[in-house]
Amino acid sequence: MGKILAFSGSNSKNSINQKLVQATAELVESNEVEVIDLRDYDAPLYGIDLETEKGIPESMKKLSAKMGSVDGYIISTPEHNGSMSALLKNTIDWLSRIEQKAFQNKPTVFLSTSPGQEVDYLH
Ligand SMILES: Cc1cc2nc3c(=O)[nH]c(=O)nc-3n(C[C@H](O)[C@H](O)[C@H](O)COP(=O)(O)O)c2cc1C
Repeated sequence: MGKILAFSGSNSKNSINQKLVQATAELVESNEVEVIDLRDYDAPLYGIDLETEKGIPESMKKLSAKMGSVDGYIISTPEHNGSMSALLKNTIDWLSRIEQKAFQNKPTVFLSTSPGQEVDYLH
């Protein structure tokens, strides 16, 4: 396996998921790992009308091309109400409009970290 692309599904400038991605990348000795920040690949909320009127955002085309140029991914997402973050879901939605399989059939390590507060988010 060659190069790995790593990013988090957080847009927080102090993201603990981005820190986890960075720490994980530093543990990988066998492969080159490039860590990127999704804040550099900003995109509006996906909508079919928006896509029809304005097309795919350049940021998503750029990210899709980058994902196509590597051999696998490390992705860490915040847990928001028992699911992935809206940012990661929105990014996947846009990517899937370029390459139907957003992860391009490449092996992906999914991670997630949370501060573990005693908060019941769903009830
Ligand atoms: C809207 C919202 C929903 C959340 N839901 C959950 C949750 O269901 N489970 C959980 O453990 N943490 C939950 N959290 C806490 C996040 O997991 C935590 O803020 C996140 O891991 C921080 O990651 P980041 O620093 O990378 O953005 C939630 C936070 C927010 C803002």
